[in-house]
Amino acid sequence: MIVLGLESSCDETAAALVDGNRTILAQRIAGQEEAHRPYGGVVPEIAARAHVDRLAPLVEDVMAEAGLGFGDLDAVAATAGPGLIGGVMVGLVTGKALALASGKPLVAVNHLEGHALSARLADPGLEFPYLLLLTSGGHCQLLGVEGVGRYRRLATTIDDAAGEAFDKVAKILGLGFPGGPAVERAARDGNPKAVPLPRPLVGSGDSNFSFAGLKSAVLRAAGGSVPDLAASFQQAVVDCLVDRTRIALGRMPEATRLVVAGGVAANGAIRAALQRLADDSGIGFTAPPLALCTDNAAMIAWAGIERLRAGYTDALDVPARARWPLDPDAEPVRGAGVKA
Ligand code: KG4
Ligand code: ZN
Repeated sequence: MIVLGLESSCDETAAALVDGNRTILAQRIAGQEEAHRPYGGVVPEIAARAHVDRLAPLVEDVMAEAGLGFGDLDAVAATAGPGLIGGVMVGLVTGKALALASGKPLVAVNHLEGHALSARLADPGLEFPYLLLLTSGGHCQLLGVEGVGRYRRLATTIDDAAGEAFDKVAKILGLGFPGGPAVERAARDGNPKAVPLPRPLVGSGDSNFSFAGLKSAVLRAAGGSVPDLAASFQQAVVDCLVDRTRIALGRMPEATRLVVAGGVAANGAIRAALQRLADDSGIGFTAPPLALCTDNAAMIAWAGIERLRAGYTDALDVPARARWPLDPDAEPVRGAGVKA
């Protein structure tokens, strides 16, 4: 089985070919950091235009590299949301056109499902059910992954996502964009205990997240040593993620593994702390390789394979969705009005 995956929901334009044996036959990712850097964040209209320019050539490149024609595909999988709607539309319409022209099925993939299943692309031994900490620029959720298409949201952020907090703190500290890697780099030379910062919601009975107050506290403390501020902020995020994940593990005793995914999972301190939490809890820990943690199309192609195997395909009129919760039964949380 061979599936072409397309990703365009934020600021990475990506295409990849993945087969049923978990081999990534070819993949291309075009970032847009330069285009957004002057604004300190992703500008939706600039992103959508960049996806229009870049996606078709990337598709041609991966097909050529793998030596395949569209007739060799078993399906085309495209991210259909959630994300910046202009960009999502570009990828989804491209996927629909390729599916229609080649007579192959279309699989409309939820971007979060791509992240959720990416660990199974990297690790053939990873079985359901597992607890997933999905932490990126747009999302911070704990999900019980029970099977393909079966997700139980155990927690979400009531304000900012963790990656968003990294990006905003980087801006406050003058470290540039994207913020996560810059803060991690600066933190290496700092003392994580130097600046007292809050741990929002730590100790609360549910496992929700909050990062807005932490970011404001960094703003108030700004002016001191940048490495110390970066290290202290990163430590606060680590403490919040670990405490909240520990609570969620208690609520999902059937979980056999703790899995982390999303761009923030690229952070070494966060990975190490989650590994310790899993060790202490007596369960396994899986973190996909860095290239699969940040946005990419291989995870979308893989989710397409998993969905195809489970019997799901989509009609060509499937809509692009700016918001698309993985668990439609999850209760809305207080204060979470603006996040998907
Ligand atoms: O999953 P992703 O590529 O895009 C989505 O948001 O869907 O995640 C990007 C986010 C950004 O906020 C970025 O600052 C953060 O992941 N990030 C990191 C690191 N690398 C990327 N955060 C902390 N430490 C890192 N090393
Ligand atoms: Zn993502």
